[in-house]
Amino acid sequence: MADEITLAETCPPSFQLLADGTCELVTLYQFYDSPPQHGGLRARLDPPANRYTPQQIDLGRYLFFDPILSSGGDLSCASCHDPAQGLSDGRKRGLGVTELNRSTPSLWNVGFASSLMWDGRAETLEQQALLPLFNPAEMAANADGIETALNAAPGYVSLFQTAFGKSPSLETTAIALAAFQSSLISLNSRYDRYAHGDATALNPQEIRGMNAFRGFVARCSQCHIPPLFTDFELAVVGAPADERGFADPGAGALAADPARLGAFKTPTLRNITRTAPYFHAGQFDTLKGVVDFYNNTAGHAAPEGQDLRIHWHVHMTDGPKLSAGTVADIVAFLGALEDESLMPRRPDTLPSGLLPQD
Ligand code: HEC
Ligand code: HEC
Repeated sequence: MADEITLAETCPPSFQLLADGTCELVTLYQFYDSPPQHGGLRARLDPPANRYTPQQIDLGRYLFFDPILSSGGDLSCASCHDPAQGLSDGRKRGLGVTELNRSTPSLWNVGFASSLMWDGRAETLEQQALLPLFNPAEMAANADGIETALNAAPGYVSLFQTAFGKSPSLETTAIALAAFQSSLISLNSRYDRYAHGDATALNPQEIRGMNAFRGFVARCSQCHIPPLFTDFELAVVGAPADERGFADPGAGALAADPARLGAFKTPTLRNITRTAPYFHAGQFDTLKGVVDFYNNTAGHAAPEGQDLRIHWHVHMTDGPKLSAGTVADIVAFLGALEDESLMPRRPDTLPSGLLPQD
């Protein structure tokens, strides 16, 4: 029964409750004294500055799975960011009311992100949440519709009271969704155990792959910087057009700057084995396909007629010439970034009385 739902009073695993009532992430990475973003094994990583209460996080979990937020009442955030599919959808491009032009990213560690979306057009999770809600191709909702529906659901009225001390609003809905997504932490893979000193956590092939990934020939870690495996920067790597022939301008659509054409935000590689196909429009089916792409002359696959300023870490006159063995080693290493141990529980029932959608 919807009215039996109560909100968690404790923080999710890996978070500690502070005196101000908010949850703070605790990981080994915050105790290292190496400079942040230097990419070494024990790179320092401070917990995200934005913190939320256990109740806000748990309310966000219900909202994330609840189709009440879509105009048709049939799509939730989890319809595309499905926990059973690595918080993505297994599709080349997301499918909402209609098909989108871009693929659905996983949401691991988004609480750390300073830039969101493939073209970096959102800065905070609170801002980002409004984009799928209002996009006519995604959930096709509007502010009035969402506020009316939530205020008409007695379950939600009391849960928003508990979490925010007021009745449901668009603003608090966005905060709760951000709170929940900040709890999606993946920092306990075999790679992390190796980084923290367990020399047996990676096998010899994975160690070779890690060294190649970090080496100056392949240069992967220049952009996919450990431990988040992204730098949150825009970069032009020269992605091919998708199979429909569409060449997405990426961040080039947001700014006239020619250096932005074909620029996309470096995605995280955490749990990357779970979210094929790859790249912003699902251009590659396998991780080997992606590494083969990088192992070629810069720009070899770039859409015809697009004058791309390819990033110098990709640009090599003749490609990095990695051997087939090294390509396989890098692919094996990417498999060591799997950790879904903190995947949140999908609610069995929802405060709206609707069925959880994913
Ligand atoms: C129809 C499928 C679909 C639905 C529904 C959907 N998303 Fe997404 N999500 C996507 C796609 C596709 C992108 C990338 C869009 C882009 O870059 O233009 C994305 C991007 C994101 C990102 C940025 C991640 C990053 O690393 O940059 C976040 C956060 C996110 N979605 C959260 C949500 C939330 C919260 C909801 C529910 C309110 C939601 N999504 C609903 C498909 C979907
Ligand atoms: C110049 C920065 C840069 C370098 C160097 C780089 N990448 Fe990337 N990587 C990106 C960007 C940007 C994307 C997104 C491209 C797109 O979708 O168009 C990406 C996408 C990926 C993806 C797909 C992720 C997904 O969710 O679809 C994988 C896997 C990947 N890179 C692995 C590697 C490996 C392995 C190397 C080294 C051989 C490497 N990258 C080198 C910036 C970089």
